[in-house]
Amino acid sequence: MLVKPEERQPLAELLYFLELGEQLAHEVAATQATIAPTTKMHRFLEGQARQEAFHATVFRTSRMWIAPRLANPQKSHEPFKEFRALMRTALHRKDFFESILAEQVILESLGEAILQKLEVGLQKRRAPFRRLRSILLHQEAAHHGFGERVLEQAIANEVLTKQELQEKALPYLALSESMVMNLKSQFKEIDEDPGEYLTIQHTFLPDWLEETAA
Ligand SMILES: [Fe+2]
Ligand SMILES: [Fe+2]
Repeated sequence: MLVKPEERQPLAELLYFLELGEQLAHEVAATQATIAPTTKMHRFLEGQARQEAFHATVFRTSRMWIAPRLANPQKSHEPFKEFRALMRTALHRKDFFESILAEQVILESLGEAILQKLEVGLQKRRAPFRRLRSILLHQEAAHHGFGERVLEQAIANEVLTKQELQEKALPYLALSESMVMNLKSQFKEIDEDPGEYLTIQHTFLPDWLEETAA
């Protein structure tokens, strides 16, 4: 693997951030499965919860591989913690659609942007687990697609309006931007521009949400 010594710490910290995201995705999907309005959604979410637990293991293993001595990354993730608290509150209220908007649509669009862009750098550095990461990317795209379809259906069935969703999305979008900016120095140390991640994230958002994010 072609990782420069000075890149180990920032890469491990980025992987740790992804690991935290996967742990949260597991927790959220497992809870969403218990409040899903249809059996089909319930089954999908149970499957997603299993996949997310596996993803967390993949990132933990990659992190240990890249920096075995960095057992406990010290980077604090305040915007992530705020995002998590907001989503947990929505789940506590059994607001299924807000949780889908926050997790599958917004957070997973950021995850997809990071995974896709970071993948180029990881391949360049000949990082291990390439095949595993490619499976993971496909699964993430499926979770994100599921979230968009659930919301489109809810809008079509007049369960809630686009405008209501746009309003609900505002704090989550702002926090996802803060999450990337909070990792600015880690991205810079591996020659990455954090702004590009946000631009890619926006391309993954549904049209009606992209305007809100811009
Ligand atoms: Fe995941
Ligand atoms: Fe996912």
